[in-house]
Amino acid sequence: MRTNALLTSVAIWTSALAQQETVRYQDPETGITFASITHANGASYRVALPINSTSSDAVLQIVAPKEFQWCGLAWGGHMTNNPLSVSWTTGATSGQKAIVSNRMAYSYYAVPQQYDGAEHTYLKGTTSNDTHWQVTARCQGCTRWSSADGDIDITTVSETVFAYACSSYAPDTPNSNTSQFNIHEQFGIWNHNLDLGRSESFGDWIRNNPYEASVEV
Ligand code: HEM
Ligand SMILES: *[C@@H]1O[C@H](CO)[C@@H](O)[C@H](O)[C@H]1NC(C)=O
Ligand SMILES: *[C@@H]1O[C@H](CO)[C@@H](O)[C@H](O)[C@H]1NC(C)=O
Ligand SMILES: *[C@@H]1O[C@H](CO)[C@@H](O)[C@H](O)[C@H]1NC(C)=O
Repeated sequence: MRTNALLTSVAIWTSALAQQETVRYQDPETGITFASITHANGASYRVALPINSTSSDAVLQIVAPKEFQWCGLAWGGHMTNNPLSVSWTTGATSGQKAIVSNRMAYSYYAVPQQYDGAEHTYLKGTTSNDTHWQVTARCQGCTRWSSADGDIDITTVSETVFAYACSSYAPDTPNSNTSQFNIHEQFGIWNHNLDLGRSESFGDWIRNNPYEASVEV
C-alpha cells in the first residue's frame, strides 16, 4: 500500500518532469518508429506497438549514458505490481554488451523478482559504445498483466503513465539477467503518448531486425 506521503512525492515528480514530452523518433539503425522520451538525466525510453494491438507485444528501446550502470522502465508507472524491464551494460567489449531483465517488484524493500509473465527477445540495437549503452528488445507480456493492481491493458489507451529508475552502481553480476542489484538513485514518472509509436509495420520491424552480438574487430 502506498502512503499519502509517497503519493504526494510522486505528484511533485510528475509535475517536475512535465517539461519532457514524448516525440516520434525513427531509430536509424532499425528503422523502427518509437514514441520516445529523453529525460533530463540523458536516458531515453522508447516504445513501439502494433497498430491495433491484439496482444501484449511491444518493442522497447532504452538508451542510457554510461554514468548509469542500470536503468529500468516500469510499464505501470510505479515500482510495484507491474512489469519492469530492467536493463544494464554487461561491460563486455564483444558479444552481448547490454542486457534486459524481466522483473516484478512486490514491495519496496526487496530486489524485484524474475517475472515469468513477460519475455524479452533482443533485437538489433542492443549494444554499447564509449558514451552510451542501449537495449532494443521485443517484450511479450509488458503491455498486459494481472497483479494486485488488477487486470491492466495499456494497448487500448492513447497515453499511459510510465516510470523509470536509474543507478550509477552496477548489478552484482552484470553478465546475468538474474543478477541482484541495489536501489536506484533516481526515479521519475511521466505520461507517455503511445499513439506516436503505433504502426502497421510492427511485424516487419521484428522480422527485419534480428539481434546480432557484436564482434570485436
Ligand atoms: C533492489 C532494487 C530496488 C529497491 C530496493 C527499491 C526501493 C525503493 C524504495 C524504498 C522506494 C520508495 C522510497 C522513495 O520514494 O525513494 C522506491 C520507489 C520507486 N522505485 Fe524502486 N527499488 C528498486 C528497484 C526499482 C526498479 C528496478 C524500478 C523500475 C524499473 C523502480 C522504480 C521505482 C519508482 C518509479 C519509485 C517511485 C514510487 C513509485 O512510483 O512506486 N525501483 N523504490
Ligand atoms: C485499426 O483500427 C481502426 C479503428 O477501428 C481502423 O479504422 C483501421 O482500419 C485499423 N487498421 C488496421 C491496419 O487494421
Ligand atoms: C533470462 O534469460 C532467459 C533466457 O532467455 C529467460 O528464459 C529468462 O526469463 C530471463 N530472466 C530474466 C529475469 O530476465
Ligand atoms: C553512442 O551511442 C549513442 C546511443 O546509441 C549514440 O547516440 C551515439 O551517437 C554513439 N556515439 C558514437 C560515437 O557512435
